[in-house]
Amino acid sequence: MGSDKYIVWHSTTITRADREKLLKQKGAVLWFTGLSGSGKSTAANAVEKKLAEAGKLTYLLDGDNIRHGLNKDLGFGITDRIENIRRIAEVSKLFADAGVIILTAFISPFCQDRNNVRQLLDDRFIEIFVDCSLDVCKSRDPKGLYKKAGTGEIKNFTGIDSPYEKPVNPEITVHTDTGSVDDCADKIIAYLTARGFLE
Ligand code: ADX
Repeated sequence: MGSDKYIVWHSTTITRADREKLLKQKGAVLWFTGLSGSGKSTAANAVEKKLAEAGKLTYLLDGDNIRHGLNKDLGFGITDRIENIRRIAEVSKLFADAGVIILTAFISPFCQDRNNVRQLLDDRFIEIFVDCSLDVCKSRDPKGLYKKAGTGEIKNFTGIDSPYEKPVNPEITVHTDTGSVDDCADKIIAYLTARGFLE
């Protein structure tokens, strides 16, 4: 491991403010959190489509996809989930610094980890709780994973034999078991507009 005392931070000539002016938007991270099958990816895709239609530059980081590449060395034990989120937080920070609006769709089950991301990103972090009951997630079971977790074929499955800690004070909560995807997306866009992120 490198020694921090020999590593010096370099400031760049072109700054985030320059990039944001160019893009006519503010870099931000929309952090979707919720159980597997709660609708994080669906909601994030719907919001991203609306943002793209409004001419905004976005990028969606999705748990399943990132685990095919950057985080393919990580499993679902507690230490690996913490590392998963730590890396995504750092990647999101780089994107936000580039002026891009990032949407992340990770279960991110632990409050402490999400709070760490909040600290890293400060007021650019928007926590979105995708609230959906475990029963509904189980009945949807889009990938058949709850069934496998129920029989013990998959271990450490969130909501079954691994915990999910609900956000305490998220910026936005959307209810995907009672509301439509479009309503959820509209609520998030309205929030971004009110906070001036889309100016
Ligand atoms: S996180 O807990 O580390 O944030 P992440 O969002 O990256 O999880 O990955 C979750 C996805 O991996 C789930 O949607 C599901 O498709 C798959 N998966 C495979 N095994 C598990 C497991 N044990 N617990 C939760 N999700 C799992």
